[in-house]
Amino acid sequence: MSLANRTILVVGGATGIGKATAELCAQRGAQVIVADFNEAEGQKTALAIHGEFYKVNVTDEHSVKAVFDGIANKHSKLDAIVQTAGILKGAFVSLEDFSPAVFREVFEVNTVGSFLCAKYATPLLKKGNKPAIILISSGAAHAGSSSYAYGTSKGGVSALGITMANKLDPEGIRVNTVHPGNIDTAMKRGVIEEDIARRGLQAPQAHLSLGEPMGVAKLLAFLVSEDADYVRGFLYTR
Ligand code: NAI
Repeated sequence: MSLANRTILVVGGATGIGKATAELCAQRGAQVIVADFNEAEGQKTALAIHGEFYKVNVTDEHSVKAVFDGIANKHSKLDAIVQTAGILKGAFVSLEDFSPAVFREVFEVNTVGSFLCAKYATPLLKKGNKPAIILISSGAAHAGSSSYAYGTSKGGVSALGITMANKLDPEGIRVNTVHPGNIDTAMKRGVIEEDIARRGLQAPQAHLSLGEPMGVAKLLAFLVSEDADYVRGFLYTR
């Protein structure tokens, strides 16, 4: 499926699932814009795919607005945004010990960050062709399997996705929320290493069952295409 003539923004495209998505979308002919807090890796991703890079902190409204102002100066439209920027902290911390500051930090990046990116993308998406907003939640939003902060923040992302899907559909913007699980990225490896150290394990067996970021990217590259026009709601990956 071709993404020719589509302009696609991948927020969080410096590493992991976002990076794989930026690469695959470019391979399929899209003009790809990468935005991320990690300037060094983000620049690398963008350079390799002949795309543009913007540094952004998704928790900071001014920073997010500046990215979209920059994009609007260069592009007449956006056809899709994939918001993959996220963090996971406190996977093994008990409720009694959980820091409210960490709880807020995770919520700010994952949930408020998704809201800000979608909010400021909308004017440009309205000028796009069969435009789409794709959010990344997590199986943890519904399984209670991760940190208090992460699970809650991703529950918020899923609810934001449902609300936007409902309210933006009449305006011609499709919203899908993807829920990956156990994908081999820096984020997931960090949790596994923490678990191994915490439990004094030797063999990192858990690494063996991780999925590839490109597996999720294949779904995301489909969702940003015009062919996904009739897809609605939540999707789960392996
Ligand atoms: P990753 O750590 O490789 O990617 C996250 C990206 O977000 C990084 O490039 C990072 O620089 C960027 N980022 C973090 N805070 C930011 C901020 N304030 N502003 C701008 N960019 C920021 O991890 P991964 O796994 O690729 O994560 C992508 C998304 O997938 C995240 O939303 C994560 O919660 C979600 N996810 C990942 C799963 C997994 O097993 N790896 C499972 C379920 C969901």
